[in-house]
Order: sequence, then C-alpha cells, then structure tokens
Amino acid sequence: MYINRFSRTRASRKNDKIILLLIALILLSALLVWWWRDNSQSNSIQSTPTQSGQKKAVDKTKENLFNKNLYSVNDPSSLWAVINKGRILPSDYVPANLRQPSGANSNQTLRDDAATALERLFSDALISGYDLVLYSGYRSYSYQTTIYNNFVKSQGKQTAEQFSARPGHSEHQSGLAADVSSTSGKCTLEQCFTYTAEGKWLAANSYKYGFIIRYPSGKKNITGYEYEPWHLRFVGTDLAAEINKTGQTLEQFFGLPVYETYPSEIYQLKTGQ
Ligand code: DAL
Ligand code: ZN
Repeated sequence: MYINRFSRTRASRKNDKIILLLIALILLSALLVWWWRDNSQSNSIQSTPTQSGQKKAVDKTKENLFNKNLYSVNDPSSLWAVINKGRILPSDYVPANLRQPSGANSNQTLRDDAATALERLFSDALISGYDLVLYSGYRSYSYQTTIYNNFVKSQGKQTAEQFSARPGHSEHQSGLAADVSSTSGKCTLEQCFTYTAEGKWLAANSYKYGFIIRYPSGKKNITGYEYEPWHLRFVGTDLAAEINKTGQTLEQFFGLPVYETYPSEIYQLKTGQ
C-alpha cells in the first residue's frame, strides 16, 4: 500500500516536471517569435539622403523595398541628381558622353544613356503612329544664361522664372533632360501639347523607357515650375516606374526640401557627393 502510494507520487511529480518544461518551452518560443519580429522591423528601417547629406529614416516595408540610396542625388553626374531652384550644378559641369540621338533636331545632344533610351522611345512611338523629335536636350551653363536672360528681358523676371531656370539650375545642363515635341510642331513647348495624341502617348508611356514628366500639372509649389508636358527627365526605368506609381516629384520621392522660388541659401551639387 505504502509502496503504491509512493510510486503514484513519483509519477505525478514527473508529470508536473513535464508540464513545467512544456510551459517553459512555450514561453521561450513566444519570446523568440517576439524578438524576431521586433528585429526584422528595425532592420527594415533604412536611411535615405537629405539635402544636407544627413540620413533620414524611411520604413522600407512601406516603400516596396525600393533602394533610394542606389545612386546619389547630390552628384552632378548621378542618374538621380536632383536639380531645382534650391540646388545648383557647378557652372563648369559638362556631362561626359554627350551624343546626338537619332530623331533629334540639329545640334541637340543628350548623355549617351538618355540618348539610347530616347531612341527606343521614339522608335516605339513611331510604330504606334506618333512621330516625335528631340527639340532641346543638353544646354551648357552659358547657353542657359542666354536663354534665361532673353526670357527675363522679354517677359519680366517674375514671369520668366515660372518656366525658365537660372543658369546652373536647369536640368538641361545635366544632359538628362529632353524637351520633346511632335514633328508636326503642334503645341511645341506649349501646355496644349498635353491634349495632342503625341502628348498623351508620352504621358502614358515615357516611364517605360526611364523618363518622368519632371514638372507635372499643379505641382509648381513643389517643383518651382509650371506644367511642362514636354520636359522629360531620364532617371532609369526602375525609378521612373516608381515615380509613375506614386505620382510624386523627385523632391517628394527623395524627401528633399521643395522650392517654389529661389531660396537665399543654395545647395551646390558636387562630384563625389
Ligand atoms: N524649363 C526648365 C525649367 C528649364 O529651364 O530648365
Ligand atoms: Zn526642358
């Protein structure tokens, strides 16, 4: 009798130990899962450059894992260089590998990568029945000075600055900006281009070739310029697709300061930055 009671007690102690071990295992697993989830969330916080070169936290889980640091926004030769009223290119900056793409007006050039992409765009547009031309591509600092000064003279400074960049502030100096029009010349460099068949095709398709409409309608307070449905900026197909999806400007996408007018302090883009 005593022996039976004793052996039952031993068995129940053993069961208690097993139950305690199971509880400990469950608690440990819960702790591990919690730690793993917390850690993977903090790993997804990446940084993106700001104007000052400081880093700003961006939750990549919400940004579809797009790497915003792949190229610099501060180097004049970068595919993602951001040039606007608050950000200036060096006056002596001339892009390498400029060439005239086929389908360009005489003397109009672009950087080789942008030229190749524009040739593909023109060729596909033509297959769909739209004959496009590069009206204005790379513009040197001194040529932009002439253009800007002429507009200021003819239209006054305030009006001119709604659509013409001061020298150093034009994307055209990067060799990555292309003013495109139809060979018919209808609405060339005019907002009515947006209603033409060519303008509509360009708006719907240019991102597939790596171009964005840099100065969209209703975003003058962000870009500093009125709507330019003809002004394409080459950024590569990945970023162009992302911009097309989000509907943001480059400034918004990279979390950079926006300028409707020229600020007192201008950020200078520099090689190697
Ligand atoms: N029209 C654009 C803003 C430029 O002058 O570069
Ligand atoms: Zn332009």
